[in-house]
Formats: sequence, structure tokens, C-alpha cells
Amino acid sequence: MSLTEEAGRRRTFAIISHPDAGKTTLTENLLLAGGAIRAAGEVAARGERRRTTSDWMKIERDRGISVSASVMTFEYRGNVYNLLDTPGHEDFSEDTYRTLTAADCAIMVLDAAKGIEPQTLKLFEVCRLRDIPIVTFINKMDREALDPLELLDQIQDQLQLDCAPLYWPAASGQRFGGMSDLRTGEFLHYSKKTADEGLTPGESPRVALDDVRDQVDPSALEELEEGAEMAVEMLPEIDKQAFLEGHMTPVVFGTALRHFGVGELLSVLEEFAPAPRPHSCHRKDAEHTLNRDDKGVAGFVFKIQANMDPNHRDRVAFLRLCSGEFKRGMRLKTAGGKQINIHNPLMFLAQDREIAETAYAGDVIGVPNHGQLRVGDSLSEGGDIKFAGIPNFAPEILRRARTTDPMKAKHLRKALEGLAEEGVTQLFKPNIGSDMIVGAVGALQIDVMAERMVNEYGLDVVFEEAPYNVARWIHCDDDAVLEAFLDKNKSASGTDLDDAPVYLAKNAWDVGYAQEKNPELRFTATKERAV
Ligand code: G4P
Repeated sequence: MSLTEEAGRRRTFAIISHPDAGKTTLTENLLLAGGAIRAAGEVAARGERRRTTSDWMKIERDRGISVSASVMTFEYRGNVYNLLDTPGHEDFSEDTYRTLTAADCAIMVLDAAKGIEPQTLKLFEVCRLRDIPIVTFINKMDREALDPLELLDQIQDQLQLDCAPLYWPAASGQRFGGMSDLRTGEFLHYSKKTADEGLTPGESPRVALDDVRDQVDPSALEELEEGAEMAVEMLPEIDKQAFLEGHMTPVVFGTALRHFGVGELLSVLEEFAPAPRPHSCHRKDAEHTLNRDDKGVAGFVFKIQANMDPNHRDRVAFLRLCSGEFKRGMRLKTAGGKQINIHNPLMFLAQDREIAETAYAGDVIGVPNHGQLRVGDSLSEGGDIKFAGIPNFAPEILRRARTTDPMKAKHLRKALEGLAEEGVTQLFKPNIGSDMIVGAVGALQIDVMAERMVNEYGLDVVFEEAPYNVARWIHCDDDAVLEAFLDKNKSASGTDLDDAPVYLAKNAWDVGYAQEKNPELRFTATKERAV
């Protein structure tokens, strides 16, 4: 297969959701659907694969955050899907946000009874920042759900995203009867199955609604017919261009737990998810657009993970490829000229994790290194490519870091800088005093940091409440105006690791007030790090 064909069949996506909406269940089912379809006809092998996959995932989960769970690759009808894991729950962190910068598309999973929840919104905002197209999966239709029109209204109102439902459900909960394909009029009948029969997450058989009328609750049918008519009248048809630009979302209903709608979701990805998108970058200091089938290998690091083995200080950098054909053993260079020999790239092709010798745009490879690579680094064959940089996201938790031994303050600063460079947490230095303020998006980041301080740096660190709760980067085209603001707000400002000015506020209201009083300034919750 040519470079153009290989890169063109990659689909790299992530799943965004609020905890408990069903991301894990859906992930497992998507992997099953991918695997099951490859093994069509081998029912026994399919069962075997199912066990292997779930056990593997369980092990990953029991062991905590792990390298191999960060990307899962499967093939489905000739396309290669890279599913990037966006940690949720207690390990929610900046990594979760950054991973989205490496995805070309996202599936947003909503709990049908809850609709948009806080974490859905936060993750969505990161997708919007990059105009990442979103496919919506409304999960748990086997439980009592909100009215489907109300759910779509929520998406429209809260996310300003036009909804194009591709299916329409026949009620929910006990009465859930299936869904109609709004484009073809075919009906996908849902029948509650036991664990022993038909737990195949492939596509459901399609029938004419009239053929199964007697098997569906009459009130559910009524709701379906009324709802579908309204949906067709009131809601737009899917427009692929609007989807790719991030303005419109195709919507599928289903229940991941009951394996209904998952095959259809996969088909929607097949139909709509984009092949690796072009990336803007700087090449030899001029603006440049890199296409997936351009010859030289280039990519960027979106995540760094410390190795699972505590005896080694090795790190794995996750490199999202944007062009070229990567071959094991290649030498790549950072934009700063550092040469990295990639003898043992970690690749995660297929569930069985066979080592692949080649990788293409859209793929993610793990590059073991000893700390030479940072989040946001660009790697390319010539070392002449610089991507725009991976944003930093404003932390939601700020803590003052202090050692129990004041003699070790310098040592502490070095350690905190090291972890901030690695992207574990952020570090802010207030303009007054000698405090070191650590910022994190999720609480687990602080715990991980405290543990690594002891294990790797031999430092006992206390993370105390800080006098601030919100950090925003400050931007202004006029240096004098910025200086005047910083001068006036000495006790509420500081700098980040790259010496960029930061407003440190008690709460969001203070930020709003400062913005109102200083219209020339911009206070942002993200900052693109120059690389
Ligand atoms: P998450 O990764 O988004 O946090 O969600 P996860 O898949 O872990 O699902 C959260 C809970 O919701 C699980 O139940 C799961 O079984 C259930 N669930 C997921 N999809 C569906 C669905 O389509 N229908 C129904 N009824 N439930 C669903 P749990 O009791 O917390 O865990 P478990 O004991 O079932 O594993």
C-alpha cells in the first residue's frame, strides 16, 4: 500500500464524557466490534477475543494508568482506528486535555438520563478550541431517558452545536424498542438479551418497522413515529462539511452495555471521521502546511509518561505522527536540534500488541527517552519542523509547595521545575515573595507529584492551600499597559515556567472584574507554548 493510502485509512479519535456516562463500556464494545468483524464467522474465536480484551483492560485498570492503555488500535473494514485514551475520573488531568490535541475527531458520550454534565462541557471546550469534529453517542437508552428532543436541545444550547440525528429512538427504559434510521427509514429492533445470547456488538439487523410492530410497545412506537417526524421537520440533515468544521454533530442513540448502537456508531465513524488532518507548522521559519502523505516523518509529543518501572527513570514520550512513513530505528530531531534515535518505539497495533515496524500519520508511537523530550516538542527527520505547540490549560487546583526542611528550598524548586517541564503539573512564581505555586487540573496530579517528590527527589513536600484559586494567562499587545496592570496587581500576579505573565485570582468573579476594568487585556484559560 502506498504512503497516501496508508495515511488515508487512519482514523484517530478520542472519547469524551463525564464519569459514569459509559466511556469504558463503549470503548470495550468498540474494540470488540472492531475485532469481531475481522473474525466474522468464527464465533468461538470471537468469544475468546472478547475475554482476552476485557481481561487485558481489567489488568490495565487494576494497575492504574498505564502506557499501553493510552492508545488502542483496531482495524475495521480496511480502516485503521487509533482510539486515544482520555483519562477521566480521579486521574483527570492536563493529559486528558492534551490528548485531545492529538485526535482528529471525538465521540461525545452522554448518559441519556443526564445529558450534558460538567466534565462533558469542559472536554468539549477543548475540542472546540481545535474545531475537532464530534460524533454524539447517547448511551443508556435501556434506562429511563430524557426526551430525545430535550437532549438535542441541550447540545444545541450549551455547546452551540447543530444536531443532526441519524437515528431516532423508540422510547427508553423498559419500553425501549430500538431505533429508526432517519436516512433510510429502516428499523433496528432492540430486544433485551441475556448474557449468553447474541452479545455481539456489531450492527443490528435492519427490518421494516411493520414487520416487528407486534414486538414493540405500542406507546414506544407512537413516540418514535411522532418524534422522528418532528426531528426530520425541525432538525437539519447531516452536512459533512459542517461536521468536519466542528459546527454540527451526527447523533446516534444506543446502549453500550447491551451492545446496541455500537456497530452503527462505528459505521458513522467510517462514514464521517476524517483521515489525519493537515497540520500547520513552521518549516525553516516560514509558515507551512504539512499533509499526511508528505514524505518526511514529522510529529509532536502530546504526552509524557514516567515508566512503570520505578527502578528506571526512563520516560515514554507519546508522539503523534502527522506525515511520512516512520520506520523502526529511525533518527528524528527536535526543532531545537536534539537527535533522538528511536530503536525501540512502542507501538500499539491491534489488541495483541504486535510490534509494528512502520507507522503513518494519525498513528501514535511511544518513544522511550531519559527526559530529553518535553510535551509540545516537534520531531522530524530534518529537525526543521515546528508545530504551533500544545496548549497549557489553566489549572483548577492551586497549591503552595513547601518542604519540611527549609534548607532544601532550592532543591524543591529544581524538582518542581523538572515536573513542570515534563508536563505533570504547572509551576507559578508570584511576583511578590518566594512561594512556589503548583497548579493542576485534577486532584490526582497533586498526589502523583507528592509521591514522586519522595521517591525520585527524596523530598518531603507539603501542598498547602494557596491564597489563589484561579490562574489566567494575561495577554496584551501594548507592553506598557501590561506593565501598568502587573505593577498595580503585584500581589495577584506572577509568571509561569516560561516567564509568561499570569493573573492569580481568588475566584472567577475577580477575573471577570479585572477583565471588565481592563478591556485592553485578555485573560485566557489556555496558553499555546512556543516550541
Ligand atoms: P465511564 O467509563 O464513563 O465512567 O463509565 P463506565 O463504562 O464505567 O459505566 C459506568 C456505569 O454505567 C457502569 O455500571 C456500567 O455498567 C453502566 N453502563 C454503561 N453503559 C450502560 C448502558 O448502556 N446501560 C446501562 N443500563 N448501564 C450502562 P456500574 O454499576 O458502575 O459498574 P459495573 O458494576 O456494571 O461494572
